[in-house]
Amino acid sequence: MAKCTIDGREVEFTAGENLIEIARRVGVEIPYFCYHPGLSVVAQCRMCAVEVEKMPKLQTACSTPASDGMIVHTDSERAKSNQKSIMEFLLINHPLDCPICDKAGECDLQENSFKYGDAYMRTSEERRTYLDLDMGPVIKKNMNRCIHCTRCIRFGAEVAGVREMVAVSRGNNTEITTIDGRPLETDYAGNYADICPTGSLTLKDFRFHKRAWMLKKTATVCEGCSKGCNMEIQQDNNVIERCIPRPNMEINRYWLCDEGRFNYHYVNDRSRITAPTSLGGKTSWTSAVAAAKEALKGKKVLVLAGSDLTQEEAKLLIEFAPKAFPGSTLLHFGTPGITATTQDAPADTLLKRKSKTSNLNGWEKLGVKGADSIPAGTEAVLVIRGGRAELPNLDGVSTVVAIGVFNESEVAAAKVTLPGTSFSEKDGTIVNYEGREQRLRRSINPVGQSKQLGEILMLWTHSAAAAPRPMESVKGVVA
Ligand code: SF4
Ligand code: SF4
Ligand code: FES
Repeated sequence: MAKCTIDGREVEFTAGENLIEIARRVGVEIPYFCYHPGLSVVAQCRMCAVEVEKMPKLQTACSTPASDGMIVHTDSERAKSNQKSIMEFLLINHPLDCPICDKAGECDLQENSFKYGDAYMRTSEERRTYLDLDMGPVIKKNMNRCIHCTRCIRFGAEVAGVREMVAVSRGNNTEITTIDGRPLETDYAGNYADICPTGSLTLKDFRFHKRAWMLKKTATVCEGCSKGCNMEIQQDNNVIERCIPRPNMEINRYWLCDEGRFNYHYVNDRSRITAPTSLGGKTSWTSAVAAAKEALKGKKVLVLAGSDLTQEEAKLLIEFAPKAFPGSTLLHFGTPGITATTQDAPADTLLKRKSKTSNLNGWEKLGVKGADSIPAGTEAVLVIRGGRAELPNLDGVSTVVAIGVFNESEVAAAKVTLPGTSFSEKDGTIVNYEGREQRLRRSINPVGQSKQLGEILMLWTHSAAAAPRPMESVKGVVA
């Protein structure tokens, strides 16, 4: 295998690999701005320039493929002097915004300035400023902070498939903007904030909520559709503040769609039912479970389970349903018009899929059939879901008992609601559309009095069927 030497370390590489990635593998950091592994290479910022023996000029590491026997120095005097010069050049027009900038703490410009820049500026001229432009509901633009790396332009054109970001004017007057100042159109706009190496493009949804260093991070999987994109949930004080993509070259590469990224809002929403309720009023777990059993006693029950529930939860329900309700039917639900994997298909050319639940394939593998409406004549329904599955129309069903994540308006007609956990409050397995098993990881504790499905079914199985009896009769039974 071909080998090159980076800062004295010999390293093997495969043809086509660039020097930034090879150096990263052996723990050598080469600073960069315009390079992004998911985008084309343009070599415009010059921050990554390194010295290569037998080459008279510095070479940009992002655009230089390694060759056998190549000897590279990333920390030579010439390379370090170039890094200092580039930092000074990029900061000539950069505002002193770090204390009020949402990107602080995770900003490439801030970090590279600290590690590779000089502590002093030689300029005192006023900074260039731009007017603000509204880019739509997802992204807040602040062009005073832009370093013209063009990652955003390339993301739109190469990944999102929309040429919506452009550079207008030239030289010192260059400005990144949308064509005609229009709002962003792509359903993947949140990625602009992820890839921008400065605070020029930030998420409206997140800005000024939390400092980046306050967030606790959990690696998990998006529940927004059957694709199973890898994501990280970031929370503080048991409140989810944002979700960002985790690279997985076989599923989502570096990206998330906006639907999946912002789906988490229901988890901490004030209208979510987080205490057991019976006939619309809050009650204790014991009374609510007893009332639920009473409501369904002796009835022919349809058990409807969201295909947003995990494999572990599905297996519990498959065991529970026939024991608790002999003769009952168990069906899964999730997306209107998509009751089987054969109906699931790509919803666009990038990531999104038609099934809006994460575990349709898993439920099907366990042999449960799907439905998106209630069979005529259904008298009683026990509906269980994680939070994402879309409820079928339950009008006309005389008895509804709900377990899981619901908001007040969704289950206003339910006799009893027993609050369960969302994808972010539990561990479990989901199976994506192509059969890939992935783990959901718990990132926050169950909100309010919500319980895991296993606990709820345990309570159900081991509690009395009617409302709690007076102490006298309990004593009588014991005697
Ligand atoms: S807005 Fe951000 S991503 Fe776009 S060119 Fe400027 S610094 Fe780069
Ligand atoms: S494509 Fe699906 S799994 Fe991926 S981020 Fe969007 S909703 Fe989530
Ligand atoms: S990262 Fe190589 S020139 Fe910008």
